[in-house]
Amino acid sequence: MYSKEQKIIIANWKMNFTLSQAEEYCKKFTDLLTDDNVIFAAPSPYLAYLVNKFPDINFSAQNITSISKDFGAYTGELSARMLRSINIDYVICGHSERRKYFHENDEIVMKMATNILNNDIIPIICIGENSDIATKDRVGFLLNQIDNCVPNSSKSIIIAYEPLWAIGTGVTPTTHEISDIISEIKQYISKVAKNITIVYGGSVNSDNAPLLSKIELLDGVLVGGASLDFVEFMKIVKAYA
Ligand code: PGA
Repeated sequence: MYSKEQKIIIANWKMNFTLSQAEEYCKKFTDLLTDDNVIFAAPSPYLAYLVNKFPDINFSAQNITSISKDFGAYTGELSARMLRSINIDYVICGHSERRKYFHENDEIVMKMATNILNNDIIPIICIGENSDIATKDRVGFLLNQIDNCVPNSSKSIIIAYEPLWAIGTGVTPTTHEISDIISEIKQYISKVAKNITIVYGGSVNSDNAPLLSKIELLDGVLVGGASLDFVEFMKIVKAYA
């Protein structure tokens, strides 16, 4: 489980790697270091195996059902109770790719986050504006998203601020912009949820990680594409060491 004292680095592998590639990656990682503040969001079919094989690594699922049942006749669905039973401590929900390709909206994300918290798992709830909103009322949009998809809870919650226009594009907001947005979110969120960690995601790489790691209010990063290359990812981890 991550410590609040250190910043966290979440690697979102998305729909990548075979099991043997994932295993080889984890093996290389554990050979180099044990870092409690790194979390790997691996594809679901590999989770139970990886958790058993690498007990010192933190793993996250990438998605979960919005149906508020532990078990039942819901073909293809994956419940928080199932993830708890294989010792998964984190689940990403509301990623913009899920919102875009699978029509998951704030209402659905709120249900997922609630299911996750009810099973004592930490949700990594993704929020973020598109490029049009970024030039208009960005903060208003983000706070509204928080109202609609972050449960009112005293349990640990991770919010990933991921501007849609920064994901996979190589373009990022400036460190000032990120700092201002995180400050607004933190002030606002303290009214609804007390135990919040906020990370930034969107084109994080080994070039910008040293700068991002210095943003005081920011609690870490969520890395997509750059986490697939082991050497590149380790450079990002080192920027946070
Ligand atoms: P990226 O992805 O780092 O490739 O931009 C981030 C994400 O989608 O979470």
